[in-house]
Amino acid sequence: MSIAKNQRAIKRQLGQFLTPEVLAKRLVAALPFTVESKVLEPSFGEGAFLLALIDRFLPLYSGSEKERLTQIFERNLYGIEIDPTVFEVFLQTLQKRYGFVPPMPHLHAMDFFRWHEYNLQFDFIIGNPPFGGTLDAELQDGLDKVYGWRYGEKIKKETYSFFLVKCHDLLKTGGKLRFICSDTFLTIKTMRGLRKMLMLNGTVETNEIDFFSEETKHPMLTLDYAKTAMPTDAVQINGQTIPRSEVEKTGNLSWCISSDLSRYFDGAVLGDYMVASSGMTVGRNEWFLREIRDGNIEESYSFEFFDDPITLGNEISRARLGKISPQTRAKIVEKEASGETRRNVNVVPRDMPLRLNLPHADYCPYNKGSNEIVFASPTHVIYWKDEGDAVYTYKKNGNWYLHGVGGKPFFKRSGITWQLIAPRLYTRFLPEGYILDSGAPCAFLLPGIDERELFFILGWSLTEQCSHILKTVINHTRNIQSKDFERLPYPFWVSEERKREIISHVESLISQAKSGRKFDFRSPEISLLDSLFEYVANTEAFLYRPKRASELSQLALFERPAQTK
Ligand SMILES: C[S@@+](CC[C@H](N)C(=O)[O-])C[C@H]1O[C@@H](n2cnc3c(N)ncnc32)[C@H](O)[C@@H]1O
Repeated sequence: MSIAKNQRAIKRQLGQFLTPEVLAKRLVAALPFTVESKVLEPSFGEGAFLLALIDRFLPLYSGSEKERLTQIFERNLYGIEIDPTVFEVFLQTLQKRYGFVPPMPHLHAMDFFRWHEYNLQFDFIIGNPPFGGTLDAELQDGLDKVYGWRYGEKIKKETYSFFLVKCHDLLKTGGKLRFICSDTFLTIKTMRGLRKMLMLNGTVETNEIDFFSEETKHPMLTLDYAKTAMPTDAVQINGQTIPRSEVEKTGNLSWCISSDLSRYFDGAVLGDYMVASSGMTVGRNEWFLREIRDGNIEESYSFEFFDDPITLGNEISRARLGKISPQTRAKIVEKEASGETRRNVNVVPRDMPLRLNLPHADYCPYNKGSNEIVFASPTHVIYWKDEGDAVYTYKKNGNWYLHGVGGKPFFKRSGITWQLIAPRLYTRFLPEGYILDSGAPCAFLLPGIDERELFFILGWSLTEQCSHILKTVINHTRNIQSKDFERLPYPFWVSEERKREIISHVESLISQAKSGRKFDFRSPEISLLDSLFEYVANTEAFLYRPKRASELSQLALFERPAQTK
């Protein structure tokens, strides 16, 4: 790897997007520091925030500049930075600016997660922790035990999340935290636990940053948190007050719920009717997937099973982080010594590719993500002889992350599927018989739910409003995960009569698409869905809409149960 490329890789791994000094200055300008304040910058990079803080603290002291700087680093400023190169840049800037580098008893060039100052609590914690950076492989599992759960919620094993939890623990009651943050923080499910932690312990305000730096175009915001040790009633998001009660209506504790959208969350959610799942990562698509051309495929390989000797070296290379517990290691050594083997598969190129007609008993349609809506014929098949024996054998022998088979219980079931990475929901009907790919999550009706619900929900998922709710309230990143789908509102406001109309409309769309008609979001039949699903305040419908699948299964879906008071 070239030096420049290597440096770029390190930068990415460390989440090194440095804050411009002008922005850092603006962000500390109004904070109420005193000479008593203890301030922590947990990942200070080239020191943009530290330099801005020095400017704020200098006027609070008397004496020469040297004396004042020394006092500030002795009494007020605490900082950690893992990368010695940027740490050095900070020292050089100090030298240039003040002609002097004071003693810095509280600045450390080390990993924040190896820094243990158990007796310290801070009045202010300020900075721009690494987003999506990599945690030290050696520490990861231990850190997960310490920071991986808060208030009954899983905290994602990722730098920003663990920085925030550790800083939350280090903040005094009455203290303030100000962080720069990706705007994805507002909605994504993986940050749900952090949003809950903050709302339960203090007040929260976020504000968009109009321009961060040339280095990244990603929308950023400032996260302001004041630790009060009391739950808050509302959060302030870009100047809007959002009651916590509305946030709590959304499954992901979204901070982007607005008063006009909150009514959609007054009833059931799609997860009460369907379970969604991601699909499988094959690992080597070129070995097992074949493109369909005119109803045929070309098979260039044959699949041969063999007994592969088990060796310690091989097992370590496949293990997560190259780590194996002493007990497992001992077992493997034993197996290696006694010459044990594991069944493996060789994928051997054929001299002459075979041309095969579909359908074929050894192949199943494969559900790859696409931006087609309503219905699409399969574009690929997967070699699935003996129920996927070759694919499963290959995965089992591959790296640790290939060992699981995402979505396996749902293979071959009919449902709804959509493209994982997309600006809106591109949903379509998934017929029976497909093997599922991770690029196209799917949803399936829960047991006991009327089959026609699938068409009703498919119709809803094709509306502008449904995508709007998804992309503003549920998750405004590019990914549309299975859990995001489950958290969407179920259209409880639609009358039974309207519902029947929608279902036959969607069934007709599917049959037209099966006969070759292509729909997109400009097709009038698709736009019509938006008016069919228009929100009507319909308290009765809401009152009688069962909320849980278990209740639903006991009811005839299309008949309203007898009225009870
Ligand atoms: C987004 S940059 C921001 C730097 C600085 N706070 C600023 O605002 O300019 C994140 C910084 O975190 C540092 N970093 C990454 N992982 C770290 C860790 N485990 N401990 C301490 N610093 C870390 C990176 O080297 C990088 O300088």
